Amino acid sequence: MNYIGSKLSLLDFLEESINKVVDKNCHTFCDLFAGTGAVGVHFKKKGYKIIANDIQYYSYVLNRHYVGNHKELSFLKLSDEIYNLDKLKIEDRSQSVCDYLSSLVGKKGFIYKNYCLGGSINEGEPRQYFSDSNGMRCDAIRQKIENWKDSDLINDDEYYFLITSLIESIDKQANTASVYGAFLKNLKKSAQNDMVLKPAKLFLNDQEHEVFNEDINEVLKKISGDILYLDPPYNQRQYATNYHMLETIAKYDNPTIHGKTGLREYQDKKSRYCSSSQVKSAFKDLILKAKVKYIFLSYNNEGLMSLDDIKEIMGLRGKYGFFTKEYNRFKADKSENRNYVASKTLEYLHYVICD
Ligand SMILES: C[S@@+](CC[C@H](N)C(=O)[O-])C[C@H]1O[C@@H](n2cnc3c(N)ncnc32)[C@H](O)[C@@H]1O
Repeated sequence: MNYIGSKLSLLDFLEESINKVVDKNCHTFCDLFAGTGAVGVHFKKKGYKIIANDIQYYSYVLNRHYVGNHKELSFLKLSDEIYNLDKLKIEDRSQSVCDYLSSLVGKKGFIYKNYCLGGSINEGEPRQYFSDSNGMRCDAIRQKIENWKDSDLINDDEYYFLITSLIESIDKQANTASVYGAFLKNLKKSAQNDMVLKPAKLFLNDQEHEVFNEDINEVLKKISGDILYLDPPYNQRQYATNYHMLETIAKYDNPTIHGKTGLREYQDKKSRYCSSSQVKSAFKDLILKAKVKYIFLSYNNEGLMSLDDIKEIMGLRGKYGFFTKEYNRFKADKSENRNYVASKTLEYLHYVICD
């Protein structure tokens, strides 16, 4: 997924830098601003026990699957509904369940009625986040997944796998420039293609992992580990507004929505890390309370906190240092709201070895 602040292209830099600092006796890696789960998954593959967290529910879902799921999914109870499913090898069943869901007849549900042109045009606030047919496909699939869950036909592991697959698949067909803060007037080419449910990747291993969906300053009180990796928002752009559509598809809770973009209420998801007046006190509280051996922080040189702020706060816990890497990222061009221009920034990985 194309996600603001994703560290997918910085994983080698992160791993190499972290390995230069930590001792060999580290087993637990905490990724508490987890986003897409890219960092947690990388360290899961290296054999760590992962503790993941994010304030957004869609991100919880992604992490609950990519990080939390670590065994094959059997889907045994769906054998009555999906022909011959039980005859398939266990590793082939996820594809078969996704194929079955892709073949459902579309439904005029919440997504179609509020976020597709055909459904929303009569409501006085026409929106076109998805083509009509993809909106209806999304509704049919999402309703079926919930139905299976309510009827106890799928377990939690299978449930989060299926919603992750839906989030990833529908996101590819979104009629947006990149995030969900606005939709495009005309259906772009990729949005015209029919959504096919593609099974989300499953990362197998022997560890049990933990996944939370809370404010980081709250979750931190409950956990301890060896390595704490922090990747907070760098600026004022709230993830709750930029990804409101994924939140609603993940929750499917028929929220009250408003405005041109059909935004759901998000007061309880507003991050202090996006507020210039609150970020420092939130960060200091976090750093002082963390029960870990090492803390790493990804931040760039244009973030709300200055280098001096970070050095001063992290230095309170022990020996401080940092690594840097020049990074090509795409930035919204303010004059042409929907165009994105490449620009270079300096990505920092700050660390402290806790006393
Ligand atoms: C820069 S992104 C993380 C990207 C992630 N490392 C990746 O590679 O996909 C920051 C994440 O922090 C989450 N977040 C913001 N404020 C938070 C808070 N107070 N507690 C927990 N998560 C928060 C956002 O929802 C967002 O997913």
